[in-house]
Amino acid sequence: MSLYLKYRPSTFEEIIGNENVIEAIKNLIADKNNRPHSYLLHGPTGCGKTTLARIMSKELGCKGSDYREIDSADFRGIDTVREIRRQSQFKPLEGDCKVWVIDEVHKMTGDAQNAMLKILEDTPPHVYFILCTTEPQKLLPTIRGRCSQFQVQLLNETQMTKLLHRVYRKENQKLEKEVLEQIVQDSLGHPRNALQILEQVLVVEPEQRLAVAKQTAEKQSQVIELCRALLNNTGWKKVANILSGLMDEEPENIRRAILGYCQTTLLKSSQNHTVARIMEEMENDLYASGFPGLVLRCYRIVFVE
Ligand SMILES: Nc1ncnc2c1ncn2[C@@H]1O[C@H](COP(=O)(O)OP(=O)(O)OP(=O)(O)O)[C@@H](O)[C@H]1O
Ligand SMILES: [Mg+2]
Repeated sequence: MSLYLKYRPSTFEEIIGNENVIEAIKNLIADKNNRPHSYLLHGPTGCGKTTLARIMSKELGCKGSDYREIDSADFRGIDTVREIRRQSQFKPLEGDCKVWVIDEVHKMTGDAQNAMLKILEDTPPHVYFILCTTEPQKLLPTIRGRCSQFQVQLLNETQMTKLLHRVYRKENQKLEKEVLEQIVQDSLGHPRNALQILEQVLVVEPEQRLAVAKQTAEKQSQVIELCRALLNNTGWKKVANILSGLMDEEPENIRRAILGYCQTTLLKSSQNHTVARIMEEMENDLYASGFPGLVLRCYRIVFVE
């Protein structure tokens, strides 16, 4: 089993960072008579949205088959929403309530979102919805408005170090400080990312570990190279070169890394139209178009004003 699944937190206390969000959610849920029936968890990938949703459902008193997790692979558009509506009429069988966790909810079609909105406006008292998304801006504002919204955050270096310490110790392993620091750097603040790198590192002999961690950093730094090339408009040749070296990588990860890089840059600058334009170009996911889609977008950024 992957480390990140093996060590998925199962209580609020085990979640690292995000203290304010957790405190607020705990308080809301504790108020049994007035607590909200729909929640929206948003934020970067691998930072604990699904994990938090599962813990919340337990705290809400949901058990066994009354808990349902739906992700974009299960969506059949509006039919899925109709099915949720139908099933939500029935009382819970095992616990106090029924909970639907809808992952990657931004992938719902407009029709489905509208149908979902109707349910959110008229949720039976024994039903709760927890919507999760990396791209809240793609949800109908009315859906966002119906939900209590929480943003999960990237972990800072101290928090990431704490997470890694916890996991490799439980695995009865030792890790050199240098390797640990390299993983913290490589992870760019994403806990799942960090645990995936840790896993690759722990399977090799201690003397090879730093090299393995650095390999990951190498790929990461190619993506950063790509961001710099796009931002500084160093020309298509350079961009094409970097892209060729990244072809084995998951395009969706690259797109998200570019967005993250741009976000950091934009927040630090007073005005930067180039960065804003790159973000616009990278706004939509690459699940359908894959790597060719990424190449085309980079081309447009370089050549289209
Ligand atoms: N804040 C955290 N503290 C400790 N571990 C975490 C935290 N966030 C994520 N993890 C680890 O990362 C894994 C992935 O988290 P999770 O699936 O909840 O992320 P997510 O935000 O739902 O990601 P995605 O957007 O890809 O669906 C968890 O199984 C857990 O091991
Ligand atoms: Mg998730």
